[in-house]
Amino acid sequence: MAPLPPPLLLLVPALLAASAGRAPPRSIAVVGAGLGGSAVAYFSQQQFGPQVQLDVYEQAGVGGRLATVTVNKQQYESRGASIHALSLHMQDFVKTLGLKHRREVPGKSAIFSGEHFVLEETDWYLLNLFRLWWHYGISFLRLQMWVEEVMEKFMRIYKYQAHGYAFSSLEELLRSLGGDAFVNMTQRSVAESLLEVGVTQRFVDDVIAAVLRSSYGQSVLVPAFAGAMSLAGAQGSTWAVEGGNKLVCSGLLKLTKANVIPARVTGISLHSSEGRALYQVHYEGSEGQGSAFYDMVVVTTPLHPSRSNFIFENFEPPIASFPSAFQPSVTSVVHGYLNSSYFGFPDPKLFPFASILTTDTPDLFFNAMDNICPVNISAAFRRKQPQEAAVWRVLSQQPLDKQQLKTLFRSYYSVQVMEWQSYPRYDSTKSLPPIMLHDNLFYLSGVEWVASSMEMIAVAAKNVALLAYNRWYQDLEKIDQKDLMHKVKTEL
Ligand SMILES: Cc1cc2nc3c(=O)[nH]c(=O)nc-3n(C[C@H](O)[C@H](O)[C@H](O)COP(=O)(O)OP(=O)(O)OC[C@H]3O[C@@H](n4cnc5c(N)ncnc54)[C@H](O)[C@@H]3O)c2cc1C
Ligand SMILES: *[C@@H]1O[C@H](CO)[C@@H](O)[C@H](O)[C@H]1NC(C)=O
Ligand SMILES: *[C@@H]1O[C@H](CO)[C@@H](O)[C@H](O)[C@H]1NC(C)=O
Ligand SMILES: *[C@@H]1O[C@H](CO)[C@@H](O)[C@H](O)[C@H]1NC(C)=O
Repeated sequence: MAPLPPPLLLLVPALLAASAGRAPPRSIAVVGAGLGGSAVAYFSQQQFGPQVQLDVYEQAGVGGRLATVTVNKQQYESRGASIHALSLHMQDFVKTLGLKHRREVPGKSAIFSGEHFVLEETDWYLLNLFRLWWHYGISFLRLQMWVEEVMEKFMRIYKYQAHGYAFSSLEELLRSLGGDAFVNMTQRSVAESLLEVGVTQRFVDDVIAAVLRSSYGQSVLVPAFAGAMSLAGAQGSTWAVEGGNKLVCSGLLKLTKANVIPARVTGISLHSSEGRALYQVHYEGSEGQGSAFYDMVVVTTPLHPSRSNFIFENFEPPIASFPSAFQPSVTSVVHGYLNSSYFGFPDPKLFPFASILTTDTPDLFFNAMDNICPVNISAAFRRKQPQEAAVWRVLSQQPLDKQQLKTLFRSYYSVQVMEWQSYPRYDSTKSLPPIMLHDNLFYLSGVEWVASSMEMIAVAAKNVALLAYNRWYQDLEKIDQKDLMHKVKTEL
C-alpha cells in the first residue's frame, strides 16, 4: 500500500495554524503486550501526554516472545535472551524503570560440524585472533569492517528520533539511514554481500552460517541487513535484564498506567464520525465478546496468513494480509549431563565450551546449544563444571526425539519443549510490509522483516509513536524528510 497523499488542506497556512491547536486523540488501542506493544504505549504517552486513554489488548501473557521458563526453582530466558551493547532504547527502558543489567558469566563458544569443532574459542584473546587469521585470512577483518559500517549508519536513527523525525515506510526509514544500499540490503543475501566485500566462501560456510543458524535458524540466504544485525550481536558484547527481559514489558505498561485488557482482538472495522476516522476494535475475552471505539490503533503482532487471526472491515482498498511466512522453531530446555563424548571429549571434565554453534550440515539435528544461566544471578554464582548437571538450551528445527536427546546428554532430569513461530522466514525477493494501514491505523511488526530483535522492535515503536503524532498534528516536515543527516546537524 502506498503512503497516503498529504491532505490538500495543509497547503493553506491559516488552516495549518488552526491545526496546531488540535486536541490530542481521546483513546489509542494497542494490539499485543509484547515488547512492541509495551514500547508503543510508553512512547505514545510520551508524545501525546498522560490524558490519552491507552488500552492494550493481550490474548496470552504480557511479554509475548520475552518469557522465562522455570527449572529446578530458577527462572531462565526461554526466548529473546541477549541484547546488543548498542541497543540504546533498551538501555533507556532499563534505566527509566530502575532495572539492572544481569551480571555477565563468561563462557567459551565453538563451532561444531557434526564431527569435530571447526573453530574453538580459547582463553587467550591473541590466540583467538591468530586462529581466525590462520584459518580465514583477512575475511575476519573485512567482516568486522562491514558490520561496523552498517551499525554506524543504523545508529543515526537515534539522532533522527531525538529530533522528532518519523518515517511512513520501512524503505524510507532505511533509505534515510544508509541510502539505497540499505534498502538493497533487504533484497539480497548476506552471503552475496559478504562475498562482494572480499569475505571468502569458506568463512561464510563455517562462521557466518553458524551465527545465522543460532540466531535465526536459517541459512546464509537471509537478507544482508538482518544478517548484519545478527552478526553484530555475535561479535560485540551483549547483556540481559536482571530478573528477565520480560520485566521491561510489565514495567513500561505499569509506568504508563495503560489498561491491559486480557482479550483476543478478532477484528478492526472502520467507521467515521463527524468526518473523522474511528476504529472499532472487536475482541473476545473470558467474559465474551465486546468492542470499543478508538481514534488510533497500533497492531503489534505479525499479520501473516498462518497467524493473522483477525479481520479488517470496511477498509477501501481492503487491508490484505502480507505475503510472508514465519519460521517455526523448537527450543528444548534440558537439565542434565552433557554427553561430551559426542563432541570428541571422552572426559567430561575437559569439555571447555558453554556455547556450541553448528555449521550447515545435513545430518546435524540441532542448530545451537547453550549452557544457560538463571535470570537472577547472585554474586556467588558460578557456571557449572562440565561434568556437573547443568541447564542447556537447545535450538532445533524439529522437536528432538529420545535418541537425539540421548546423543547430546548422558542423562537428564527434565526436558521442557517449546515450539513456536519465532521470527520471519526471510526471503529477500519479497517486499517489506507497510507501517501505515490507514490514516491512524499502524502496523509495528513489519520491521521484523528488516531484522528481528528487541531493539529493532523498540526503534519501530518509537517511529510509530512519532509518525502518529506528526500526522495527528499534521507536522509533515517531520515525516519522510530527505537529507536528515544534514538537517539534524544544523538543528543541533
Ligand atoms: C526463540 C527466540 C529467540 C530470540 N532471541 C532474541 C535475542 O537473543 N535477542 C533479541 O533482541 N531478540 C530475540 N528474539 C526476538 C525477540 O524476542 C522479538 O523480536 C520481540 O520479543 C518481539 O516483540 P513483539 O512485541 O513485536 O512481538 P511479541 O512478543 O510476539 O508480542 C505480540 C503479542 O501480541 C499478542 N497477540 C497476538 N495476537 C493477538 C490478538 N489477536 N489479540 C490480542 N493479543 C494478540 C501475543 O500474545 C503477544 O504477546 C528471539 C525470539 C525468539 C522466538
Ligand atoms: C540497488 O540494487 C539495484 C538493483 O538490484 C541496483 O541497480 C542499484 O545500483 C543498487 N543500489 C545501490 C546503492 O547499491
Ligand atoms: C530477580 O531480580 C529482579 C530484578 O532485579 C528482582 O525484582 C527479583 O526480586 C529477583 N528475584 C529473586 C528470586 O532474587
Ligand atoms: C554419547 O556419545 C557417544 C559418541 O557419539 C555415543 O556413542 C553414545 O551413545 C552417546 N550417548 C550416551 C548416553 O553416552
